[in-house]
Amino acid sequence: MKPVAVLYSTRTGQTQKIAQYVVSKLRAFGLEAELRIVARRAAAIDLGRYRGVILAASVHTGKHEREMVKFVVAHLSQLAAMPAAFLSVSLSQAGAERAGESPERHKQFAADVERMVAAFIAETNWHPQKVLPVAGALLYRRYNPLLRWIMKSIARKVGGHTDTSRNYEYTDWAVLERFVQEWAVMIQSREVVAEPYAA
Ligand SMILES: Cc1cc2nc3c(=O)[nH]c(=O)nc-3n(C[C@H](O)[C@H](O)[C@H](O)COP(=O)(O)O)c2cc1C
Repeated sequence: MKPVAVLYSTRTGQTQKIAQYVVSKLRAFGLEAELRIVARRAAAIDLGRYRGVILAASVHTGKHEREMVKFVVAHLSQLAAMPAAFLSVSLSQAGAERAGESPERHKQFAADVERMVAAFIAETNWHPQKVLPVAGALLYRRYNPLLRWIMKSIARKVGGHTDTSRNYEYTDWAVLERFVQEWAVMIQSREVVAEPYAA
């Protein structure tokens, strides 16, 4: 049986962590899984080697990673013909999930996520069977001083954490695990060939 692939693009590492977690869960649910990075000078990835694929990309300044957009465009016909899901990682999703926000703010964050995913779909023309928005992380300790300052200003505006002496991880691992489990069941069940009933 072919393996499944988890392909990711990242800037600051959270999507890599998410992709690694997805691979570990796929394996726990009985699938052989491979982790591959989609980067600018990535080795060619042959999707024909896989029975299904989960793509994960994060959002920076309103857009998903350019490398992932290019990869999807280059592999569109194969992606459209295989079980494929998309994980969109952002801080807007963290806002949409944040306890204590007003319903209006939740709606606004969710609308931002929807808009960014819609832009990715419009740009690539890929319509994944499943999309999961995933809350990312605010990794102040990994940013350079300028980026730390910029991210703090944004966080202040949108009601996020502003203590730059630490990192904040908002990813809901339990939600992600459920998604992966459902996807693994779907992959496995679509390949069960029913034996004709013999009386
Ligand atoms: C420079 C920069 C710009 C960002 N722009 C956005 C944005 O426009 N919308 C959003 O929801 N999140 C934005 N984020 C948050 C990232 O999506 C979040 O930090 C995510 O976890 C990054 O994933 P990565 O570590 O895999 O790169 C931005 C983060 C950085 C550092």
